[in-house]
Amino acid sequence: MKVLVTGGAGFIGSHIVDTLVKANLQVYILDNLTTGSFGNISPEAVFLKKDIRDADLKELLARERFDYVIHQAAQTTVGKSLEEPYYDCDVNIRGLVNLLEACRLSEVKRFVFASSAAIYGDTAALPIGEEWEKQPASFYGQSKWTGEQYLNLYYQNFGLEYVALRYANVFGERQGANGEGGVISIFLNKLLAGQELTVYGDGSQTRDYIYVKDVAQANYQALFSDAANRSYNVSTAKETSINELLALLSSMLKEPVTGRNAAMRCNDIQRSVLANQAAYNGLKWKPSYTLSEGLELMLHALQQRLCK
Ligand SMILES: NC(=O)c1ccc[n+]([C@@H]2O[C@H](COP(=O)([O-])OP(=O)(O)OC[C@H]3O[C@@H](n4cnc5c(N)ncnc54)[C@H](O)[C@@H]3O)[C@@H](O)[C@H]2O)c1
Repeated sequence: MKVLVTGGAGFIGSHIVDTLVKANLQVYILDNLTTGSFGNISPEAVFLKKDIRDADLKELLARERFDYVIHQAAQTTVGKSLEEPYYDCDVNIRGLVNLLEACRLSEVKRFVFASSAAIYGDTAALPIGEEWEKQPASFYGQSKWTGEQYLNLYYQNFGLEYVALRYANVFGERQGANGEGGVISIFLNKLLAGQELTVYGDGSQTRDYIYVKDVAQANYQALFSDAANRSYNVSTAKETSINELLALLSSMLKEPVTGRNAAMRCNDIQRSVLANQAAYNGLKWKPSYTLSEGLELMLHALQQRLCK
């Protein structure tokens, strides 16, 4: 079976590629390397250096006849979407529609889409369920929500099957220090460089940190699940504050880890945690790694990279 992973040279996409290769699928990567890197590209996948907005995408998909498409390529940061709304829309909406058209015409069996917790915005209660009102607070969140609605209409009108996965804050090896959910990556990189950590606000704000290999597994299971044509949260359903994260890092590194407090950033959400029961029921997926296990693996990989 032939699978195309867009954004397969990026953080999450490269782990998805590894999971698919391990499952003996034939994997192709389409990436323009804006934020991805050559070093992330699996030697066991075919690499196509292309942009999802390219006009000849239809011809490529018609030629290659992929069975499945897993779409990770995107403008991935909230901040950039606010600074450059046109670019965000161009990549995340026009690029998506360009790819969906190519999938429809080449009769792709199923389309798996990287959505985000950013579609919910700041909610009054927690944990957030899939059916909750969508109140994105950024163009990035809006682009993901609009993307999901396009998927639904492609299914309704043309029968293109889909699964949308709304990731919580993903962390793990190969994560850059930008993008969504980058706080763990920023902290670990700073700690290893002997630099001071900055904690915005009093450190009581919480996030739902999901390890990247669990996210890759959810994508794999979304290809074959019976319960398609809907969206699922991909999360741990556990809330962790920045202060708890610092305590975990202290016990892992066996030294006190603290941060310098700075003013809370405007638009920062105070608490975030996503329910994950639907993914268990529909995709038969649940996370396998605890936060500590994921942190250990990530730290080990960073330390090894520094020793090279
Ligand atoms: N990291 C998180 O916590 C998180 C949370 C929610 C959702 N997401 C979503 O998951 C997906 C993967 O994010 P990531 O964190 O791995 O980011 P990333 O930047 O590491 O990966 C994105 C990849 O897409 C490629 N790309 C960007 N624009 C492209 C274009 N126009 N054409 C072709 N390739 C292009 C980049 O080169 C990169 O390799 C994104 O859709 C992102 O919005 C991430």
